[in-house]
Amino acid sequence: MKILIIHGPNLNMLGSREVNVYGSTSLVEINEAITQEGVAEGIETEITQTNSEGEIVDQIQRTTADAIVINPGAYTHYSIAIRDAIASVPTPVVEVHLSNIYAREDFRQHSVTAPVCKGQISGFGTQSYILGLRAAKGLLEKKY
Ligand code: DQA
Repeated sequence: MKILIIHGPNLNMLGSREVNVYGSTSLVEINEAITQEGVAEGIETEITQTNSEGEIVDQIQRTTADAIVINPGAYTHYSIAIRDAIASVPTPVVEVHLSNIYAREDFRQHSVTAPVCKGQISGFGTQSYILGLRAAKGLLEKKY
């Protein structure tokens, strides 16, 4: 089982970016936690980060992974292109957010991408990715 993890824009800045909101864990540390969870759960993980909307669309279209865990960053709130890409592939997608987007500014409380995902996990920091990975695995194994 292979799962692609896509980190969207500005997530490369984690650790120094708005520490009061996103914490001091860097993207490298988050990726280590994801990789470790993958090893423990028998999941092959491929992890990417890009600031470019088109690149996210390309990655969704081209992946050979069995599922995708995506944090679209700010694109969550307005990218119809990413929404359409998710809707256009059979690959199940789980949306994750470090922060609880429903407890933040009005403009963050709406996700245009979540309705075409299998589900969304929001507000658990690094743990959101770990939960997202487990959710994707459960979907693929048709558990529960
Ligand atoms: C985020 C929430 C978005 O609103 C924001 O633009 C991000 C990060 C999160 O993980 O909490 O870049 O996706």
